[in-house]
Amino acid sequence: MKFAARLGEIQDQTTDCLVVGILQGAGLSGVARQVDRVTDGAISSLVEKGDIAGKQSQTALLRNVPNMACARLLVVGLGKPENVKLGTYRNACFTAAMELNKTGCRDALFCLHDSDKPKADLSQKVRHAVEAIGDAVYQFDELKSKHDANSTLTTVDFFVHRRNQMPGLQTGVKQGGAITMGKKFAKDLANLPGNICTPTYLADRARSLRKSHELRITVLDEDRMEQLGMGALLSVSRGSRQPAKLIIVRHDGGRKNAAPVALVGKGLTFDAGGISLKPAEKMDEMKYDMCGGASVLGALLAAAEMKLPINIVGVIPSSENLPDGDANKPGDIVTSMSGQTIEVLNTDAEGRLILCDALTYTQTFKPEVVVDIATLTGACVVALGKQASGLMGNDQNLIEELLEAGETSLDRAWPLPLWDEYQPLLKSNFADMANIGGRYAGAITAACFLSRFTEKFKWAHLDIAGTAWLEGGKKGATGRVVPLLTQFLINRSS
Ligand code: BES
Ligand code: MN
Ligand code: ZN
Repeated sequence: MKFAARLGEIQDQTTDCLVVGILQGAGLSGVARQVDRVTDGAISSLVEKGDIAGKQSQTALLRNVPNMACARLLVVGLGKPENVKLGTYRNACFTAAMELNKTGCRDALFCLHDSDKPKADLSQKVRHAVEAIGDAVYQFDELKSKHDANSTLTTVDFFVHRRNQMPGLQTGVKQGGAITMGKKFAKDLANLPGNICTPTYLADRARSLRKSHELRITVLDEDRMEQLGMGALLSVSRGSRQPAKLIIVRHDGGRKNAAPVALVGKGLTFDAGGISLKPAEKMDEMKYDMCGGASVLGALLAAAEMKLPINIVGVIPSSENLPDGDANKPGDIVTSMSGQTIEVLNTDAEGRLILCDALTYTQTFKPEVVVDIATLTGACVVALGKQASGLMGNDQNLIEELLEAGETSLDRAWPLPLWDEYQPLLKSNFADMANIGGRYAGAITAACFLSRFTEKFKWAHLDIAGTAWLEGGKKGATGRVVPLLTQFLINRSS
């Protein structure tokens, strides 16, 4: 999909479909008004005759519109002016793209960003439109024997009337395009099944980024991890025939010696639970347990695509978690790279075991801040649902930065408390700590566990178990939290 900016007169624009927005009960404005004037009332007569009122995500498609160079006109409702938020506008963009999917359009010219509502920067509006279109045309059918494209759309342009609007438009297209590319990369990896997307495959896909983008990739194998003393990480992969990998991706866009932002992503390519085996129902979905790692790759891809002037290092511990004669057993005690010992009371709490060693290793990069991203706990899904990622950490400023990045990118996170009072729940009679904290506050005790490996730097943790994946009819990966992370990196580099 290609996205670009276009400047000119609306009636002269050749396109398979012109997409304009109208507000409910507010009269026409901007591009919609102009089109209405040129066409002797094509839009106002739709409204008068009751074909469309402008309600949220209502649509009407017209062909053969008089005096216009466009082949079709798609009118999209944005809702009542007082109700239009960035999120509703973005939904309208998504609906518009879904309508375009039903037609044979190859290209389209979007103007929804031209409406007075919502009040937001042009670049913000365009960027969200690009992302919404990217979501609408996304399809994962590489493993079906018959490919039936759900969309013929290959190009979407964004229209502005005034030259001074071009910079905002171009920023939006650039950021939106980069985020969409990163999201697609992450979604594809998460949708791939465990028999294809193994730790080795994940490492190869990371390596492939070297060709298309200026990223440096290193992959540590199990021997190297053994030398480094990563006993917690390796205890998880012992139960699997696929060797674990530690994937390191670097983007060096900043000053030569500037400390990098470190992103650490859980890359568990399939989580059966190990000896503490999960129930059969929905176990297939545990192929998405590598979404933390996929988000890190997606965000680095977006950063490289935008050539952000910042140094970033991504660290992705990758393994499977399966039951086997050599797998972790409940009660086993392992020694982490930090030297701290861990009693594995539940082998299904494996994410924290691979992350703790990756976090300790991250210290070698002397990072400015560290953010880890993981599909870590079912408890986080219970607490926050599919709407918000869980957010905890040891640095309030960093937490606030991430909250704001989530707000701007409409990929929101929400804080949970990480008080010292929760720490005793991890007590073990036989080791420095247990790997689980009991029935209560599971998302928090998981973060408490990680906090014991992050004391030397500013750190935050995003639990994306709920947000990374949709169930039911829309079952599949969402690409979250690529937008949040990318926004965080954009903010940090300006
Ligand atoms: N990968 C799972 C967490 C998960 C659950 C992600 C549901 C997405 C949806 C993680 O490894 C896990 O199994 N966590 C356990 C921890 C428990 C044993 C303390 C959980 O949440 O049940
Ligand atoms: Mn697990
Ligand atoms: Zn897991």
